[in-house]
Amino acid sequence: MSHADDHVGTRRDFLYYATAGAGTVAAGAAAWTLVNQMNPSADVQALSSIQVDISGVEVGTQLTVKWLGKPVFIRRRTTEEIEAARAVDLGDLIDQNAENANKPGEPATDQNRVMDEAGEWLVMIGVCTHLGCVPIGEGSGDFGGWFCPCHGSHYDTSGRIRRGPAPENLYIPVAEFVDDTTIKLG
Ligand code: FES
Repeated sequence: MSHADDHVGTRRDFLYYATAGAGTVAAGAAAWTLVNQMNPSADVQALSSIQVDISGVEVGTQLTVKWLGKPVFIRRRTTEEIEAARAVDLGDLIDQNAENANKPGEPATDQNRVMDEAGEWLVMIGVCTHLGCVPIGEGSGDFGGWFCPCHGSHYDTSGRIRRGPAPENLYIPVAEFVDDTTIKLG
C-alpha cells in the first residue's frame, strides 16, 4: 500500500467515526421526542412552567422529562436511599448549599433538597455542575446516586456532589406538588 492509499484509509476511518457520531446524536434526539410525546404536558413543554404526571413512577425508579431544554430527573427514592442521604455528615459535603431554588441559601441537608417530608421525591436538573454532561442515575457512582462519566463526578442519593471535579450539587428547580400525582416545574 502506498503512502497515499494509507492516507485515504485513515480519512475514511475518520469519516466513518464522524458519521457514527452524528447517528448517535440523531438517535438521542428521537428518544427525547418520544419522551416528550409520552409526557402529558408535551404541548406546553416550551413554556416556563409544565405539569408532570408522576402516577406511574415506581419506588426506586426515575422519570426524566425535558424542561426548558434540559433534562429534569424526578426520582422516587427507596427507604435505603433516603436513609443513606440523611446519614451523611454535612461536614463531608463539597457543596454546603442545598442548591434548591425553593429554599435559597439553605444548608445541604437531604431534608432541604426533597419535595416531601418523608423524602421520597427528589427533583433535580439532570445536568452535571462541572461542564454540563447528563449524569447516569439508577444507583450509579461510588455513593449510590448519580455518576457523570465525562470526568468522573460522583453524586450521592440526594444528588449532592461527593467526589470528582463538579463544584456544586445538582440543582433543584422551582417545583411543587399540584396534587398527589402531579408535580409542577417552574
Ligand atoms: S461534565 Fe460531569 S464530570 Fe465533567
